[in-house]
Amino acid sequence: MTEYSAVRAGTFKIGSDLEVNRLGFGAMRVTGSGIWGPPIDRDEAIRTLKRLPALGVNFIDTADSYGPDISEWLIKEALHPYRDGSIVATKGGLARHGADIWLPLGRPEYLIQQVHKSLRNLGVEQIDLWQLHRIDPKVPANEQFDTIKSLIDSGLIKHAGLSEVSVAEIESASKVFKVATVQNRYNLVDRTSEDVLDYCTKHGIGFIPWYPLAAGDLAKSGSLLDYVATQHGVSPSQIALAWVLKRSPVMLPIPGTSKVKHLEENVRAADVDLTDDQFNALDAEGRKAFQRK
Ligand SMILES: NC(=O)c1ccc[n+]([C@@H]2O[C@H](COP(=O)([O-])OP(=O)(O)OC[C@H]3O[C@@H](n4cnc5c(N)ncnc54)[C@H](OP(=O)(O)O)[C@@H]3O)[C@@H](O)[C@H]2O)c1
Repeated sequence: MTEYSAVRAGTFKIGSDLEVNRLGFGAMRVTGSGIWGPPIDRDEAIRTLKRLPALGVNFIDTADSYGPDISEWLIKEALHPYRDGSIVATKGGLARHGADIWLPLGRPEYLIQQVHKSLRNLGVEQIDLWQLHRIDPKVPANEQFDTIKSLIDSGLIKHAGLSEVSVAEIESASKVFKVATVQNRYNLVDRTSEDVLDYCTKHGIGFIPWYPLAAGDLAKSGSLLDYVATQHGVSPSQIALAWVLKRSPVMLPIPGTSKVKHLEENVRAADVDLTDDQFNALDAEGRKAFQRK
């Protein structure tokens, strides 16, 4: 173990029983441009994934659609058999027909097919956490939720979550299966999902913010974020991540990278202890920046 570690971020129990260190890893970036095909530097992508256990990162987020399949294959190649309680969460429900093209596809037979494919890709008999990447508006939502329930009942997946959903959608899904996590875009300057985060915090649902490193104009030289970063001797994006981590005990950020150096920088954010004053001042600046957008 290194002198810095994701362990410093504290832990969260997904579905009340799978304990992970709260600072995770997003494996979308270990793919090609447009999240399509293999990464340009495959060796560095594998090195990045292999570095995770030593850094205490034991929560890895991926999806069948990243590559597609490439991200799951590389995770298996680098980390299988998964040790030290490492949890690999994957997603399904987006079809890919080319670079940067993502189309919701929530027909039950497709979701079930993709879960079987992810099981093989990851080399496991049960997926720890499987998340519906998008609710497909062309398919009745309850058909998709019933399919998830059947996947849990058959033991193919242990826990299930949703992505890019509203509070109303979490509530209606919760009538069918236990929603263990919600994965919505969230960062210091994108507060669209503030109500969803509060709901998850209240109900002990893991909230996985994607694009957690973003800080927009707040990261500019001379800004409050820049000032706080200088005080802590770290970068603005490390402060943005530390802020996200402090925002809620159910927060499970998954910063993504294909480079060991960036991974190590991101994990160091778990070491940053923001004071309440710093947290509140950044919160206010972030909200203002969000309202200006
Ligand atoms: N549920 C959804 O719909 C959804 C959507 C998007 C993403 N996600 C998940 O969320 C994860 C994170 O999202 P994201 O990748 O969009 O956002 P992110 O983690 O906030 O940012 C990733 C970008 O920042 C760069 N980066 C990472 N660490 C850096 C560092 N220390 N210094 C400089 N640049 C750095 C990466 O490039 P390098 O590779 O060059 O480091 C990459 O371009 C994804 O991996 C994926 O698992 C989910």
